[in-house]
Amino acid sequence: MCSRKFFVGGNWKCNGTVDEVKKICCMLNNGEVPCPNHIETIISPPFVFIPLVKSMLRTDFQVAAQNCWKGKGGAFTGEISAEMLANLHVPWVILGHSERRQLCGETDAIVAEKTAYALDNGLKVCLCVGETLEERERNETGAVVARQTAAVASKICCWANVVIAYEPIWAIGTGKVATPQQAQEVHYNLRKWLDCYVSPHVAMNMRIIYGGSVTAANCKEIGANPDVDGFLVGGASLKEDFIAILNARNYQH
Ligand code: PGA
Repeated sequence: MCSRKFFVGGNWKCNGTVDEVKKICCMLNNGEVPCPNHIETIISPPFVFIPLVKSMLRTDFQVAAQNCWKGKGGAFTGEISAEMLANLHVPWVILGHSERRQLCGETDAIVAEKTAYALDNGLKVCLCVGETLEERERNETGAVVARQTAAVASKICCWANVVIAYEPIWAIGTGKVATPQQAQEVHYNLRKWLDCYVSPHVAMNMRIIYGGSVTAANCKEIGANPDVDGFLVGGASLKEDFIAILNARNYQH
């Protein structure tokens, strides 16, 4: 067995008010979870709540942004740069989420550019990949995930600060979770791809986490697969369920 540390992210997406954010932080702070030797946890609020969350949140949970600009800041109205996140000591950024790919037109090339720039500026990246239902039905899942990862591989040479989230688009926010077998198969094939096209070392050490309708009820079974190294959680990360998901593996506290 290798030593990939279990990794769980809470992606709050575009949700919350100041009062709700405070409540969620209290819930997280009171949760009993495995110690940081066993698990790495990131919490990703909307940009505007990052300072509040950072000021309230327990120190064993790290904060992540949900996106950043693809290059240096400047005349880019409405954008947030990687330098700004680094300046605020935000250690992580989620990039390439399917909602950004599909709703905001982020191509593989843009996601790759963002990933390279964020890494160059000292951020760690949770890189999201995943296929649509139509692509799955056409048996293109492996090719799509490989294509999305290859775009990033063409722009970066160090993968130490990257976690890959496999998130089938048909499972996100739909309640239609991938079966443990479906998740394991894609994770296994992606690891094999990394082994061939990046390096055996990167393949062996890469945390590949699953996202898409993860709940307290299904996390244990999905997380028991050898190539599933954790979860990226949307809806359930706003609720007490998230604490149960952090406890998907039975580590001693
Ligand atoms: P979901 O979202 O858990 O609500 O399906 C996952 C994600 O989009 O990261």
